[in-house]
Amino acid sequence: MHTSTSLRLRHAALAAILSTALVGPAGAQFGPPRPKPTGPWMNKSLPADQRADLIVAQMTLDEKISLLHGGGWGLIFAGPEAPPSKSVGGAGFIPGIPRLGIPDLQMADAAVGVTRSALFGRYSTALPSCVAEAASWNLDLAREYGALIGRELRDQGYNMTLGGGVNLAREPRNGRIFEYKGEDPVLAGRLVGAEMKALQEQGIVGDIKHYALNDQESGRSYVNVKVDKRAIRESDLLAFEIGVKESGAGAVMCSYNLLNGDYACENSYLLTDVLKKDFGFQGFVLSDWGGTHSTVKAALAGLDMEMPGNTYLADAFKKAVEGGQVPMARLDNMVHRILRSEFAVGLFDNSPERQVPDVFHGLEVAERVAEQSIVLLKNANAQLPLAVARVKTIAVIGSHADVGVLSGGGSAQVDPMGGNPVLQPADTPFFDRVIWHRSSPLKAIRAKAPHADVQYDGGTDPAAAARLAKASDVAIVFVSQHSSEGGDHPNLSLPHNQDALVSAVAAANPHTIVVLETGGAVTMPWIGQVSAAMEAWYPGIRGGEAIANILFGDVNPSAKLPLTFAKSEADLPHPKLTEQPPPASDKDMVEMFPGFKDNTRKFDVAYDEGLLVGYKWYDAKSKTPLFPFGFGLSYTTYEYSNLKASKDSVTFQVKNTGARAGAEIAEVYATLPAASGEQFNRLVAWEKVRLAPGESKSVTLRLDPFYLSIFNAEKDAWELVPGEYIIQAGASSRDLSLRGSVHMN
Ligand code: BGC
Repeated sequence: MHTSTSLRLRHAALAAILSTALVGPAGAQFGPPRPKPTGPWMNKSLPADQRADLIVAQMTLDEKISLLHGGGWGLIFAGPEAPPSKSVGGAGFIPGIPRLGIPDLQMADAAVGVTRSALFGRYSTALPSCVAEAASWNLDLAREYGALIGRELRDQGYNMTLGGGVNLAREPRNGRIFEYKGEDPVLAGRLVGAEMKALQEQGIVGDIKHYALNDQESGRSYVNVKVDKRAIRESDLLAFEIGVKESGAGAVMCSYNLLNGDYACENSYLLTDVLKKDFGFQGFVLSDWGGTHSTVKAALAGLDMEMPGNTYLADAFKKAVEGGQVPMARLDNMVHRILRSEFAVGLFDNSPERQVPDVFHGLEVAERVAEQSIVLLKNANAQLPLAVARVKTIAVIGSHADVGVLSGGGSAQVDPMGGNPVLQPADTPFFDRVIWHRSSPLKAIRAKAPHADVQYDGGTDPAAAARLAKASDVAIVFVSQHSSEGGDHPNLSLPHNQDALVSAVAAANPHTIVVLETGGAVTMPWIGQVSAAMEAWYPGIRGGEAIANILFGDVNPSAKLPLTFAKSEADLPHPKLTEQPPPASDKDMVEMFPGFKDNTRKFDVAYDEGLLVGYKWYDAKSKTPLFPFGFGLSYTTYEYSNLKASKDSVTFQVKNTGARAGAEIAEVYATLPAASGEQFNRLVAWEKVRLAPGESKSVTLRLDPFYLSIFNAEKDAWELVPGEYIIQAGASSRDLSLRGSVHMN
């Protein structure tokens, strides 16, 4: 990972804060029970907006302003009015107003599970990464993912998530790909929408982030993204639009970067014109941590909450309101938005009851998600599944597969249940630690093949690993790539000489199977040498078991790639990552809270591929990827036939032509009429079809006109271009065996 100096400093400071938090029971207490609030806004039968208005009318200026900023991690910026003991220790905390029954807002990072809970001795489930969830293409599973996180947040005393990442994988080296949902706006948007809706049903305020175009971490606080309106509306912003509309999420977090000259958190086009007006977003916008840069400009542009800190939306804001630079109506609207999101999910009506999360339910969901998210990439000569009766010796190699599976870091890091099995030097900064979850693939493989001799080699010496592989019937090589926010991968290669490890093992054993634990796409120069490969992402607390279930065929793989795997960096829209120029000053600490004022390092990155994100780029430029978007194998085979397309829907048959039951993700793409100016396919519908051996099903999918529309930047509106639409269906973006067409007026 490339981690900037400033980020390291910030991480060091956070680590200090966190270790202080460990000392005292500061966040552990919930305080005395709140008196039952009274007031007309407590009438549950009134709509959330009306209840919010009733309460805003009762509030003093200071009370209103107190809701617009807060502290974090239980301690910092707590201020006299916010005794830290009231925070349960999450990344964000805003004290409520007991007089009016306004609850404390307790926010936790929770992209793949509730984070940092172990500071207070609690357990939370580490789910497979978000990109893994996306590889399931399964909206029901996304709902389960969201419901589980929501429930564990509530169990731990939180009432708002900071999860919900949906930035597109436009830059595949982005260090946060694992927190996002791939490269397609419709797939990503629908998944985050389903997840956040289910999370909110648990009585938790949902969040979608990082709005917007925070598609690389390199220089994330200074990078000015330049990209045109139509391109963003049809790519990154479309994912947010679908997610916001389908979930009714209470909050959107604006991002660190600038877009077309303005910081996202003071960008009136992004926050007001698009999010609040066009998308009809009713909730509040909070800044990413330290991402607020002004008072009047930010408030007028649409920012509703500064987090964490009180530089811009506290005293300075009061002065701006009193001086008339920010109208009182705007302040009221900010407070209204926050409170209506709280009312909407029941924060006033149900106070969380803290309890130990249901650990076993968590494990069960985590394993199911992992099993539906592992993508089988190659399976020459039906190498997999392994036949227990025939395999006598197995070499398991690399990536600490003896003790666990890798996880993603940064603010998405879920504490490892039972501790990190891979010891790190004691002085490793908190955010630089590489955490493994105690779900050992080696143990799970041994359990599947109790009569086989299963040996492990750490993989640090390719020659030694090759010797073990040579003496074994099959060799299973685990390769991994750690990711964490604040830095990108310098390239798409596996780190630490792992390509050489795989090549050495494959040269020694023709039955070599590679299991990848990566944040996103990597290159695989050895793919022609191995017999099988599967992408397991960061597979979560039951990853080892899920991997073994797939290796031995207890589970038939059904996942498909939610992002393209390139053959090499040369095929990317930007062969070289646009990196942050060297710091112009040594004021790294300025990036720390409160407020980052040093703008001297701003630099531009032109995303001139525009809306050609991911597979659209490869299609438009006729480039062949290593593995295309939507690709994934199964232990059975499927046949597609008989497509009929109408204006509103498409129908076709899918048949399981193999000997095993399976689930096929059937994908539908559209090519728009030439007048659209878009000569590539776009994903418009899909369904996961479960099929017994020999079974055939008819699949009918709705063609949503919105997903077929283009954004007309001059008219500032979506439109359906009249003409001929080609509709194709099949197994991946590059395997579309069925074709039809429809005429739209
Ligand atoms: C991240 C956010 C996160 C916040 C609070 C920031 O560094 O970008 O995603 O929610 O910290 O931890």
